[in-house]
Amino acid sequence: MEIIIKPTEQDLAVVAAEAICEVYADKPNAVLGVATGSSPLPIYQELSRRVKEGSLSLRRAQAFQLDEYVGLPQDHPEAYHNFIRREFADITDIDHNSVYGEDGLATDLLAECQRYEQAIVGVGGIDIQILGIGADGHIAFNEPGTSLKSLTHPAVLTAQTRRDNARFFDGDIDKVPRHALTQGVGTILRARKILLIATGSNKADAVRDMVEGPVSISCTGSALQLHNNVKVLLDEAAAAKLERQDFYREIYANRPQGAWLGL
Ligand code: GLP
Repeated sequence: MEIIIKPTEQDLAVVAAEAICEVYADKPNAVLGVATGSSPLPIYQELSRRVKEGSLSLRRAQAFQLDEYVGLPQDHPEAYHNFIRREFADITDIDHNSVYGEDGLATDLLAECQRYEQAIVGVGGIDIQILGIGADGHIAFNEPGTSLKSLTHPAVLTAQTRRDNARFFDGDIDKVPRHALTQGVGTILRARKILLIATGSNKADAVRDMVEGPVSISCTGSALQLHNNVKVLLDEAAAAKLERQDFYREIYANRPQGAWLGL
């Protein structure tokens, strides 16, 4: 893991966008993994800015969502396909027909998960995956206790996650769906490159467990320790509980040329 600590989320968005631009410079039809939540929004804004200024094009890109709520009406603004369209696809030049997600209204949820997993394999896998992390250390909707080898599967959301996400549902936890379809931890680990962004003090415990804790299903983000191309992008508040902060800053300050260190 390469741990990068910057003062503002805008600084982090620039680091992420540079890494994404580098992937698209090499491979204009690269497959981008897109995440929901508020943490990645500055990254989408920065990608949008670069598309508008002409330094990046996603016209040939394909994008895959991490997860989707089960049972929300197709046009519900918080359905993740609508979130991703609004916050990412509408503000870049990606073809809307090249943005894919799980179907949370499928009648056979297991079959839908298998179809989605195969769709990712079918395009040759995800080249670069954007991730956030939940306060309990989850990535996508892989709550504590989820197998670190899991593939796309139906998930039951914990009370903590539903409380966290109630802010998108008029503050009413009862409106937050209880189930989702999510890429598994194993699916995410197949991505060639991963950018995880976390900001704010409410992520500090999860970040500590993910980066310095044991690899454990108690913090599914900790599985990223097993991947060799991960950048963890943190503001000071999210990094505050890391024991080896000085070490990470030293590595970053003295990094060799090249955006990916294979860490
Ligand atoms: C949800 C999403 C995750 C996201 C998490 C944190 O649970 N399924 O992919 O990382 O929220 O969201 P935020 O960035 O808003 O804190």
